[in-house]
Amino acid sequence: MTTDILRLAVLVSSVRQGRFAPVVTGWFTARAEGAFDLDVIDLAEADLPLSLPDRESGPDAATADVLARLTPRLERADAFVVITPEYNHSYPASIKNLIDWHFTQWQAKPVGFVSYGGISGGLRAVEHLRGVFAEMHAVTVREQVSFANYWELLGEDGGLAGSEAADTAAKTLLEQLDWWARSLKEAREKRPYAA
Ligand SMILES: Cc1cc2nc3c(=O)[nH]c(=O)nc-3n(C[C@H](O)[C@H](O)[C@H](O)COP(=O)(O)O)c2cc1C
Repeated sequence: MTTDILRLAVLVSSVRQGRFAPVVTGWFTARAEGAFDLDVIDLAEADLPLSLPDRESGPDAATADVLARLTPRLERADAFVVITPEYNHSYPASIKNLIDWHFTQWQAKPVGFVSYGGISGGLRAVEHLRGVFAEMHAVTVREQVSFANYWELLGEDGGLAGSEAADTAAKTLLEQLDWWARSLKEAREKRPYAA
């Protein structure tokens, strides 16, 4: 049985100027520290182009450099959490681009979600991502954290004051991620995933 601490890649989806994403990311990582070995992957710093490569020729040299830094971080992760806002009833293009640039790195690994937005709290973005990750052979965990109308939840310091319900959801999400991450890691080690 795997008893060591597992690696969780936290994917920061929004790359918008003036974005709220860092506040939500800080709120979540404060709760995930200790439960997982965290690697925060901020897509605003990833420099991943939109133009996917031709199968034959592969990425150009500049993109190959970007991928050489980025892809091993996804490869190493035992689990993922996507921090996502809702844009026009779905997720930002930046997270789809990261997903599309990769394939095996998602397979037989769990994915959790922390979302935020207006009245729906990003739930529509998460529902769409669940379908995308199913195509990548990833397992999305049921529990999720959602901040609806997050501007009403800000503390005096501008941080997310959150709520007891959000704390409970984060705790359950982390427990479910840990269960799936350990189970799937053990399964992958026993035999290769049948993609
Ligand atoms: C292009 C765009 C579309 C948006 N569409 C929605 C939406 O459909 N539903 C919603 O609840 N909020 C929507 N919003 C509000 C965002 O959830 C809010 O601006 C949030 O702060 C965006 O996250 P970010 O600041 O980290 O980029 C939209 C914002 C943008 C910029």
